[in-house]
Amino acid sequence: MTILDGKKISNQIKEEITEEVKVMKANGEKVPHLAAVLVGNDGASLTYVGSKVRACKRIGFESTLVQMPSTTSELELLKKIDELNNNDDIDGFIVQLPLPKQIDTQKVLMAIDPNKDVDGFHPMNFGKMALDMSTFIPATPFGILELLERYKVETKGKHTVVIGRSHIVGRPMSILMGRKGFPGNSTVTLTHSHTKNITQITSQADIIITALGVPGFLKAEMVKDDVVIIDVGITRVPDETKEKGYYITGDVDFENVSKKASFITPVPGGVGPMTIAMLLKNTLLARERHRS
Ligand code: GUN
Repeated sequence: MTILDGKKISNQIKEEITEEVKVMKANGEKVPHLAAVLVGNDGASLTYVGSKVRACKRIGFESTLVQMPSTTSELELLKKIDELNNNDDIDGFIVQLPLPKQIDTQKVLMAIDPNKDVDGFHPMNFGKMALDMSTFIPATPFGILELLERYKVETKGKHTVVIGRSHIVGRPMSILMGRKGFPGNSTVTLTHSHTKNITQITSQADIIITALGVPGFLKAEMVKDDVVIIDVGITRVPDETKEKGYYITGDVDFENVSKKASFITPVPGGVGPMTIAMLLKNTLLARERHRS
């Protein structure tokens, strides 16, 4: 069994980008600039956005954190997006999800300039992804592809089962694994809350990608030997014995499933760190597009 070490690979990617930034600086070029918009003060979102901004600083990117109160109206947020779209100093930006209830997420995502949409959530970029055109691939799915590629996990002709159809992970992942090329060329089954007899499906899977947010959902009895497991679940479980008052766990019963798996991502330290590394990669791409 091989651990797909997202922490290690993400550090490699960040080192690669750091080298590119050094060259830019040496040539007197402007470094990439990422902005992140956070509306409200959801604890998990604050942590994620903080990690994204810190990662920028560490590798030499410029970054801007735009914090708006939870009472922000849709119009106020749309105005801020317009400002960021027109700010020539900013190469790419993200709006952290989820947004407060009074704001229509789809409307907000559609307002982002597709050339600055480093999350790849704009319908134009999502459509390009589905059509195999060059575009920003959402960071979490992009990170999963990168992990599969760097560990040379065979995907061609394999049965990939995706659990969860979120716009951020499950849906794009189901498209990407079926695309031509590597990693891809899989036969994909997308399962969700209305799927009947999911064990019958997961037990036929060569590769399982879970993005549910239900701790311990995937159990050893549900998988076959030598399965490849990608666990995208990140749930905070309250635990007063821990320093932070919680611990992080995935969708997979790691202890038992790992005994049957050929490759498996840990939580934490698997897909999570890859998401940040790929956001940085997309920002680098945005800068290249912006300046060419
Ligand atoms: N919320 C959970 N994951 C993500 C992500 O990748 N990007 C944004 N913007 N919000 C998220």
